[in-house]
Amino acid sequence: MVEQLKGRTVFITGSGGVLGSTYVRRMLAEGARVIASDLPGNRADALVETHGANPAFRFYPLDVASEDEVEGIFQRILKDGWEPNVVLNNAAITGELLMGAGQPFPDFADLKVSDWERTMRTNLTGPFMVARQMDRDIVGKWPCTLINVASMYALNGAHHRIYEGMPFKNFSAYGVTKAGIHGLTVWLAGYWAPRGATVNTIAPGAVFNGHSEEFQRRVGELIMLDRMAKPDEIADAMLFLASAQSGYMTGQMVNVDGGFSGW
Ligand SMILES: NC(=O)c1ccc[n+]([C@@H]2O[C@H](COP(=O)([O-])OP(=O)(O)OC[C@H]3O[C@@H](n4cnc5c(N)ncnc54)[C@H](O)[C@@H]3O)[C@@H](O)[C@H]2O)c1
Repeated sequence: MVEQLKGRTVFITGSGGVLGSTYVRRMLAEGARVIASDLPGNRADALVETHGANPAFRFYPLDVASEDEVEGIFQRILKDGWEPNVVLNNAAITGELLMGAGQPFPDFADLKVSDWERTMRTNLTGPFMVARQMDRDIVGKWPCTLINVASMYALNGAHHRIYEGMPFKNFSAYGVTKAGIHGLTVWLAGYWAPRGATVNTIAPGAVFNGHSEEFQRRVGELIMLDRMAKPDEIADAMLFLASAQSGYMTGQMVNVDGGFSGW
């Protein structure tokens, strides 16, 4: 069987999360070399424990909000002998991560500027710094592609009512950063095309991660396929974007949302 990602060396930020860890597993299975990264901690440890013995896997701790760390990341990878030709700007903080699990979620009127700015820093400035470093260290040296990760709430407003009584809400700064990241995609796509690099956005829909029956029912009503996504269903589209088969696509947003954005 032909491996879809043979010859691809993929660098992924935020690799230890629900989707990131799925991409790592699926990409390794499709013959890619995978350079995973994340903040140090449990998620990173679990990833290294699962894949550390695989010679096609490497892990680098990386905080995408740190300019110093991002500026050094590709030089470290190149020095160790691998040349990434696919980069996934996947790391993000969601409202739950920002506030700390279990803490009451603030209303919009009480949202602190510091929390807004921290979200911008991680979800938008971080991907900008990763792309800028790609420009400095990789783009033009060999063909490559950047995949930015948005959300079904990038270009569509949140349905606030479905979060009533839930332990989490949709978070204003999150959607703003996800709209912004597609702006980065379309800006860079034309800028990098003469140097043989493509840039696209993937916009995942609502991914099931232990949500209550009631939440699944409410969100399902907004989705043509009437259910949340499995992480592997988002990975199916991610594999295509990371493969040579997407070579004639650039500047696009690919919605993988069960039809949410089609209504
Ligand atoms: N799960 C969904 O329903 C869904 C839907 C749409 C879009 N997305 C997007 O997909 C991507 C992955 O989401 P997920 O569901 O796997 O989320 P997740 O919270 O499970 O994983 C996010 C990962 O990013 C890492 N991270 C956070 N701050 C970081 C930083 N400063 N530096 C480096 N890493 C950092 C976290 O440690 C975590 O491992 C995100 O961009 C998210 O916005 C997810």
